[in-house]
Amino acid sequence: MPQIAILSASVRKGRNSHRVALYFKRFIEEKNLGNSEIIDLQEYNFPIFNERLPYLDSPTPEVLDFAQKIRSADGIIIVTPEYNGGYPASLKNVIDLLTNDWRRKPVAISTSSDGSFGGTQVITSLQFSLWKIKAWTIPAMFPVPKVNVSFSEEGIPADREATDKRAAAFVNELLWCIEARKMMDNRKQ
Ligand SMILES: Cc1cc2nc3c(=O)[nH]c(=O)nc-3n(C[C@H](O)[C@H](O)[C@H](O)COP(=O)(O)O)c2cc1C
Repeated sequence: MPQIAILSASVRKGRNSHRVALYFKRFIEEKNLGNSEIIDLQEYNFPIFNERLPYLDSPTPEVLDFAQKIRSADGIIIVTPEYNGGYPASLKNVIDLLTNDWRRKPVAISTSSDGSFGGTQVITSLQFSLWKIKAWTIPAMFPVPKVNVSFSEEGIPADREATDKRAAAFVNELLWCIEARKMMDNRKQ
């Protein structure tokens, strides 16, 4: 079973996009698509970036733990809110923190907003940063409009059938990339 990490990027008090992270964890487990774990940036509460992990003299246990979770994930779903047309500083903070660990990592992006566009303006800037760090962003989207009403606090979708259908297509693309990466890695051995 692939290990899928769900990176919940919002650290805002009273955040709503975390609901989508809770949803994906449950969806992946219920459909038996993989093992899933939420990497919650609010819990890590990292200070502002000041150097990349390989160049830190004494990285904190939290930084090492975060890095290990990214390293060991076969694929990552980033759940991010849209703030002023971009992705939050908390997310840039951890993209910049790691170096080679992002390379060829299959990454699926789910954006959220409380408006009707579902945070889609984040896509180009986030994809560009992930491309620069050599991650492998998958060509599927999971925008969530009106996140505060389309999911309950526990991550239950208001329209379960339609949401599960969209999620299946989105996660399947990620699983395809995870499989493709594994095949290439095995070929080299
Ligand atoms: C600083 C800030 C900027 C925001 N900018 C946008 C925006 O540009 N477009 C948008 O649709 N929603 C915007 N929102 C609303 C978020 O979409 C909303 O808070 C949503 O619930 C997702 O973020 P959250 O996980 O922090 O709750 C903004 C919210 C904050 C706190």
